[in-house]
Amino acid sequence: MNKKFKRTLITSALPYANGPVHIGHLAGVYIPADIYARYLRLKGEEVLFIGGSDEHGVPITIAARKEGVNPQDIVDRYHTIIKDAFEKFGINFDIYSRTSSEIHHKTAADFFKTLYEKGEFIEKSSEQYYDTEARQFLADRYITGKCPHCGNENAYGDQCENCGTALSPLELIEPKSAISGSIPVMRETNHWYLPLNKHEDWLREWILEGHKEWRANVYGQCKSWIDMGLQPRAVSRDLDWGVPVPVEGAEGKVLYVWFDAPIGYISNTIEVCKNFPDKYGDWEMWWKNEDTRLIHFIGKDNIVFHCIVFPAMLKAEGSYILPDNVPANEFLNLEGKKISTSKKWAVWLHEYLEDFPNKQDVLRYVLTANAPETKDNDFTWKDFQSRNNNELVAVLGNFVNRAMVLTHKYFEGKIPQCGELTDYDQQTITEFLKVKADLEGYISQFRFRDAQKEAMNLARIGNKYLADTEPWKLSKNDIERTATILNIAMQITANLAIAFEPFLPFTSEKIKNLINKHDLTWNDLAKFNLLEKNHALNNSELLFDKIDDEAIENQIEKLRKREKENDQITVTAKPVKDNVDFDLFSRIDIRVGKVINCTKVPKADKLLQLNIDDGLGGRTILSGIAGYYQPEELIGKNVCFIANLAPRPIRGIISEGMILSAEKPDGTLAVITPSLNVDPGSEVK
Ligand code: MF3
Ligand code: ZN
Repeated sequence: MNKKFKRTLITSALPYANGPVHIGHLAGVYIPADIYARYLRLKGEEVLFIGGSDEHGVPITIAARKEGVNPQDIVDRYHTIIKDAFEKFGINFDIYSRTSSEIHHKTAADFFKTLYEKGEFIEKSSEQYYDTEARQFLADRYITGKCPHCGNENAYGDQCENCGTALSPLELIEPKSAISGSIPVMRETNHWYLPLNKHEDWLREWILEGHKEWRANVYGQCKSWIDMGLQPRAVSRDLDWGVPVPVEGAEGKVLYVWFDAPIGYISNTIEVCKNFPDKYGDWEMWWKNEDTRLIHFIGKDNIVFHCIVFPAMLKAEGSYILPDNVPANEFLNLEGKKISTSKKWAVWLHEYLEDFPNKQDVLRYVLTANAPETKDNDFTWKDFQSRNNNELVAVLGNFVNRAMVLTHKYFEGKIPQCGELTDYDQQTITEFLKVKADLEGYISQFRFRDAQKEAMNLARIGNKYLADTEPWKLSKNDIERTATILNIAMQITANLAIAFEPFLPFTSEKIKNLINKHDLTWNDLAKFNLLEKNHALNNSELLFDKIDDEAIENQIEKLRKREKENDQITVTAKPVKDNVDFDLFSRIDIRVGKVINCTKVPKADKLLQLNIDDGLGGRTILSGIAGYYQPEELIGKNVCFIANLAPRPIRGIISEGMILSAEKPDGTLAVITPSLNVDPGSEVK
């Protein structure tokens, strides 16, 4: 660690408690944070690793409304599921708490009050949609209407899920309240804003000059935000779920979820320090002391909040430290597609645990090997299988097993005497030192994929060592050499328990059980005297087993099945008219005709006059499509028309039928033409 720092405060983004967590969360945030925390602890450094659930925000209130329960019921349910999943995957938080707790409400409210009293906010009024029936202001998500871009009738006030466009509620055509269905009205409301523009100068200096070492994706996003110019951001909302704004006259208003959630890191620190004062000391030491190094682990969608907004809040308060690094990850895809909770395209942690019991480390390994550190990455079940079979089983598991079995076979499970080292032995030991240095270098740069690769290299070196020295081929006369080789192999095994501890904690624990040695720390890595002569090993057991094709196919099948179930076509079209009987339909005579000539109708800007070869001697039809076609475009085309519609005069011209067109959502008409060339006068049935 840099000399400046005495301790490290590690935070991991607080997941929303409105659904279970999946492999994307684990790969993006929690495994990297856990690796880092475990590594520092193993080195004997002072660490505090904070987690917790983010329990406010509009989506939670929507989920509650859908189920007809309270928001608290929703967050209680998912907080438990999430906490449990993290525990089972060995995410070793010092605390996993929640933002609906009393201590958090108080901490967040106090934080707001301090800024309020210091005059760090501006107060502004604006017009927002209000539901007069439900008597409440409507969050963007609570307003639905027609999308101005694609015509989808069920677009939300923040986004159209049909065409993906980001919207503001004001853009919606015919807005409706999702709560009561009534038409919302504009009403004036007051909110507090954090004037980020006031913070722009120091933020620019601090990040763009002071933190050039941040990951390119993080630095780049910050730069583009700052270069675009920062704007005041509302820190309150009209909502009845969240931390009430602690100001008189602010009834019905709560802190915006992105204001209170990062303060959750602080409240959880306060909580854990209060509960275990001897272990963690005073909370302010973690947040207000320049020798604490603060690191935020997050996904890329959280960058602006952790690099710009939260630091501005901390700075405005005045007594807090700022993050030293924010190693944000990109996204993990699943089988080539974006993970989506709503589309059920995900591997949930609780499900994985059911399908692959006691294989947490396999998933941890694969997710780190594929960590989306510099770009989006893909998780595939095939890759999961091959990394398990070809790396964990064939390299790490195989080496440990061979070393254990041979030591049992030749030396009754007791560490044999190490004799004189050959050059090759020496070389192997030297390689360990080099790998240790590389591994440390990578971890300190948050490059966990590369770091884990180095740990695996140690197992590869071990495998090669046994393959090259072939102790099983030595004769009884060479028992001293056999002893030396197996001594070294067992020292390597002990080293693997250390090197893998941050990545594969369950496996590391298993190895420690096998070698009957638990008091190993990072400083022991690359040492070759960890197991003393005659130290007794436990019985050998396999660390990993192969995963067969069937298990993998089942997983892929499960995904495909869910995808099909979810592939419903969304309802965007107008409802169908009342049924008619076939007789009525067959009385309508629809024909194909060829457009012989087409002209604009004078003084009628919507109308075109079409002369049609109908196979019956020709006819004239007027059609309101002048806005969508130039007359020349239609000449020579086959069109469909109703042939027995009673002729009627339009603008002094008799129209003998009606041209059929399809209407696009925006009202544009597209003339219907047959997909093959057919004779004029052909019936359409
Ligand atoms: N709940 C947010 C998300 O899942 C993350 C909150 S991080 C915190 O995107 F800093 F606000 F806690
Ligand atoms: Zn749309």
